[in-house]
Amino acid sequence: MVQEILEQAMEEGRKEIVHGETASYIPELGNVDKNHLGICIYTAGGEVFSAGDTDVRFTIQSISKVISLAAALEVCGFDKVFAKVGMEPSGDAFNSLVKLDLTSNYPYNPMINSGAIAVASYLMPVVSFEEMLQFSRKLCLDAEIILDEKVFQSEMTHSARNRAIAYLLESKGIIESDVEKSLDLYVKMCSLGVTAKSLAGLGMVLAGGGIHPVTGERLLDADVVRVVKTIMLTCGMYDGSGEFAVHVGIPSKSGVGGGILSVVEKKMGIGIYGPALDQKGNSIAGGSMLRYLSEKLRLHMFAEESI
Ligand code: DON
Repeated sequence: MVQEILEQAMEEGRKEIVHGETASYIPELGNVDKNHLGICIYTAGGEVFSAGDTDVRFTIQSISKVISLAAALEVCGFDKVFAKVGMEPSGDAFNSLVKLDLTSNYPYNPMINSGAIAVASYLMPVVSFEEMLQFSRKLCLDAEIILDEKVFQSEMTHSARNRAIAYLLESKGIIESDVEKSLDLYVKMCSLGVTAKSLAGLGMVLAGGGIHPVTGERLLDADVVRVVKTIMLTCGMYDGSGEFAVHVGIPSKSGVGGGILSVVEKKMGIGIYGPALDQKGNSIAGGSMLRYLSEKLRLHMFAEESI
């Protein structure tokens, strides 16, 4: 039954692709075929259901903000991370620096670029990129995650906006370590090559409170997972987070590479790949597939009954 519903969700998603575009502000992402579409579910029982392009690698982009936040909470602690980064939805675009300069001296949350660059600056002096790569592989249950060098270089040579954000953060004393090295770590994390299946694996680890669904090993502290999921719910889909919470009701995080990571508490992780994006930078087919799945499988966190 789940497999059938996934196939139907794919049909729903496919209809939307025509209305979206790939993210061309990072030129290498603009070269991706916008018709790719895949969805994968990893259940608490260790079952995996897949439809479409679930083994195609694409860059994780902003979904890495979830992994970096979890790492920073584990390594640097809650007080350090949230001393200068907030927990409120910004209501602005992910790469906006308007409020950071005008109305608040701190990034609104760790899911927008300014907050994530600050988080990277706390990690940078204490964790190497190699260690972050290993950590990502472990959390996504995918030993084959690699750095996509092409996308990394493409973003680094088109990073005026993120560089402006990073130096603004430094001017306000939010970044205390080397700005360029912090930006380098942030962009490298965004350039990790994952699949829809890796995102489903990560989703299941988070859904299970930080426990590996098969071995039972604790991969993340339970409090860290609670904080991360809450911030995904309120801020994970950027300025589309409120509407998404109403219609889908599943803590999720999107990336401009076309990925969406979704966490159905205790039950399943969902990973999506659909690089045609809506105006807000979220996968347009992904949003429609999640809406469909949420309704059919009664996955909304406030649904009256769930499967
Ligand atoms: O920093 C950037 O602009 C990208 N590396 C990531 C942005 C992103 O994925 C926003 N997501 N929807």
